[in-house]
Amino acid sequence: MITVEQINDRLKNVKYPGFAKSIVDFGFVKDIQLNGKKADISIQITSSAIEVENALIDDITKELRTIDIDANIAVDKPQQPQQQSNTTSGKNIAPDIKNFVMVSSGKGGVGKSTTSVNLAVALAMQGKKVGLLDADIYGPNIPRMMGLQNQEPKIAGDKVIPFESYGIKVMSMGSLMEEGQALIWRGAMVMKAIEQLLRDILWGDLDVLIIDMPPGTGDAQLTLAQSVPVSVGINVTTPQHVALDDSKRSLQMFKKLHIPIAGIIENMSGFVCPKCDEESDIFGKGTCEDIAKEFDTKVLASIPIEPSIRISGDEGKPVVYNNPETVTSKRFMIAADNLWQAIVKSDANNSSIQPTTNGVSACSTEKNNEKGDCGCDH
Ligand SMILES: Nc1ncnc2c1ncn2[C@@H]1O[C@H](COP(=O)(O)OP(=O)(O)O)[C@@H](O)[C@H]1O
Ligand SMILES: [Mg+2]
Repeated sequence: MITVEQINDRLKNVKYPGFAKSIVDFGFVKDIQLNGKKADISIQITSSAIEVENALIDDITKELRTIDIDANIAVDKPQQPQQQSNTTSGKNIAPDIKNFVMVSSGKGGVGKSTTSVNLAVALAMQGKKVGLLDADIYGPNIPRMMGLQNQEPKIAGDKVIPFESYGIKVMSMGSLMEEGQALIWRGAMVMKAIEQLLRDILWGDLDVLIIDMPPGTGDAQLTLAQSVPVSVGINVTTPQHVALDDSKRSLQMFKKLHIPIAGIIENMSGFVCPKCDEESDIFGKGTCEDIAKEFDTKVLASIPIEPSIRISGDEGKPVVYNNPETVTSKRFMIAADNLWQAIVKSDANNSSIQPTTNGVSACSTEKNNEKGDCGCDH
């Protein structure tokens, strides 16, 4: 009759891949349950590499077969860090900012700026330190929506001090260009402008920077993704199919750039007549659910057409702060909650793994020397 001790002894013959020590010596064997000729073995390892897991399962199975035991092995291992938007460039040109949210849309006029403003204000109302960057160089309209029109930015040394409005730090390309000036942006200029908006503005410590991007998928999006680790992306669209086609391109761009998708804002989703309360579907409604499924994400909010949204935008009084009781405001608040959860999840997936055991790093699958130096940088 085989005992748990005998199995444990056998497991001392199973070396951790690349090391001279066994999984028992490392303390990786957490539990052994014996049931006749079957053993349930739980091990906890510090490598996320699938090669390590497979090698261990193989070795344990073979070792225990020699004593006629059928092993069922459960491996607990750290999650593999996700690739980030800046994985290739490795750059982070705004390191004081903890999280970056890219707000995109396939086309203009769908409510990207309205969404950026209201999500930023909602997060600030929920106690976060928030910045709002209007990177829509082709049509910057955040200053008007935040009540900051005609204000001149102040300079400190070679940096620009952001404006403050509704407890949020705000900067816009519109505030840095001469009023009414039309610039023809070339690729290199777009890239430089985006970099400067991140690097040369005194943002200070922020929990999150919401970035209102130009519509489409071009140089601005690529530059942002390569300059900082973008935590999540949001897509804003209206529900008619023509807009959804463009929206899909934006979502595909997020995937290509390794930006986790926090969700879709379906804006102008139905119209509730303020006189008769009757709801009509102007652009269709609920069509974003299918795309959300296709891209394994969710609809963060459906925002109806409401005259108060347009008025608050024009007057620089964001609706979530000034009319918190409206349906729209409540939906933006919930969307901000969901957005924050997506940010937290993205951060958790990218926390670095520092696997050390008894002062020995066990994170590599490479062949190592007797001292247990795994040869990596940890
Ligand atoms: N749900 C809505 N109801 C009413 N007006 C809206 C709504 N969403 C946006 N608007 C208005 O539509 C116009 C375009 O919105 P905006 O946020 O500037 O779009 P984008 O940034 O995508 O170009 C603005 O005047 C805005 O106030
Ligand atoms: Mg806009």
